[in-house]
Amino acid sequence: MNDNLHQLRCIGCGSLISGSQAQPDFRCAHCGDLFEVDYPGWLERKGPDRPNAGALKWLWRERRCSDEALDGSGVWRFRELLPILDNFGNAVTLQEGNTPLYHLPRNAKALGIDQLYAKHQGMNPSGSFKDTGMTSALSVAKERGFKWVACASTGNTSAAMAAYAARAGLNSLVLIPDGKIAWGKLSQAMDYGAVTCQLKTDFDGCVKVLTEIVRQAPIYLLNSVNPYRLEGQKTPALEIAEALDWNVPDHLIVPGGNLANSSALGKGFREMVDLGLVARIPRISVIQAEGANPMVRHLAAGPDAPFVPVEAHTRATAIRIGNPASWRKAERVVHDTGGWCLDVTEAEIAVAKAEIGAEGLGCEPASAVTLAGLKKLRAKSVVDGGQTVVLLLTGHTLKDADYTIDFHRGTLLKDEETGGPDSKISAEIAALRRNAIAVEANPKAVLDLLKGQIE
Ligand code: F0G
Repeated sequence: MNDNLHQLRCIGCGSLISGSQAQPDFRCAHCGDLFEVDYPGWLERKGPDRPNAGALKWLWRERRCSDEALDGSGVWRFRELLPILDNFGNAVTLQEGNTPLYHLPRNAKALGIDQLYAKHQGMNPSGSFKDTGMTSALSVAKERGFKWVACASTGNTSAAMAAYAARAGLNSLVLIPDGKIAWGKLSQAMDYGAVTCQLKTDFDGCVKVLTEIVRQAPIYLLNSVNPYRLEGQKTPALEIAEALDWNVPDHLIVPGGNLANSSALGKGFREMVDLGLVARIPRISVIQAEGANPMVRHLAAGPDAPFVPVEAHTRATAIRIGNPASWRKAERVVHDTGGWCLDVTEAEIAVAKAEIGAEGLGCEPASAVTLAGLKKLRAKSVVDGGQTVVLLLTGHTLKDADYTIDFHRGTLLKDEETGGPDSKISAEIAALRRNAIAVEANPKAVLDLLKGQIE
């Protein structure tokens, strides 16, 4: 690891340590808080010593046409901004990143917003945003000579970790909550060869068990408390800025679970400003599910209130987290960027997910909280119609096909969640549902069904 180029700074007490001094659980030995990667030389390089922003932008774009595996990665093509390895030859890549920034014309029109985009991180190799952080942190594990890596997960981290570990020839251990993860994700961990343990507890319980394990055995922890994960996860911020010709959006909306991703993106934008690559930082808002909303409660309780974990319940299983490790980092990002933190109901998530599906994109339920949250922010008039808004879609729609099928069959939500069949949201759901129809196996029967619809 390149200790000369980076150090780790505790976000609680400010202690500075070298990368190789980190404890196995990545907690600060003084105050127990989390670290972030810090590049001490950057801010000192002022005036002519500053990296040439124009040259970097040109280089990063040129790399997209290169045949080198590292250049083809949407994380490592920005490697000047993540000098965390001694040797970039140790990078383990699956050509992650370089994901599309889609315009959402129908949702934009419905909300009266001109420029509404989705940065679709579900279009990564293992189908979620976790790949960008896994390539960076697992590469550190490989460079440091670990033979085993591990994570506790609601499903996507484990899928990504298992895939990258397989590529690197490392062994991987996955702890997942029994019965509460989507099949798509579980199947990936199995397929990529992880040792997958389903524990009779929730995600927060899995984290506790794993923290003990890494203290006792030489296993490298790849949960998002590992600050190297965030270095890869900051790169979508660079891609968003690049896609908008180095103009940043007014507002970025991110789902909140363990609360690391919002802070990674905030770090990405902050570093771009520090290095003169962009002029400002967007507002970053974090949206949680109503049944897994400890951050929303915390911010509502006022600045000095302690953080109180909740028992989490939501069908958006990816963000079914009651005791998020990175709440302090996320709180800082929301506060510093002037963003909001709010929660959305199960019915609002389901409707938003179907609306993203109807754009021809789709996403997993946890990602859809972003659109559901934007609708609320628009209703409160805190988001202006003339603003550029980006939703961060974190996972692919095929991750949780059961959820989608249940929605379209009408078996997903209970009456108490929709307010009954006559409610406004039930009408929205009815308009979006597209259940499969049983039809006789002849052309006439199919065409009869379409009568009046084909002109
Ligand atoms: N969206 C998806 C699809 C996720 O899988 C997760 C987290 C989040 C959003 C929340 O991101 O934790 O950085 O706030 N999934 C983790 C996992 C916890 O184990 O896969 P966060």
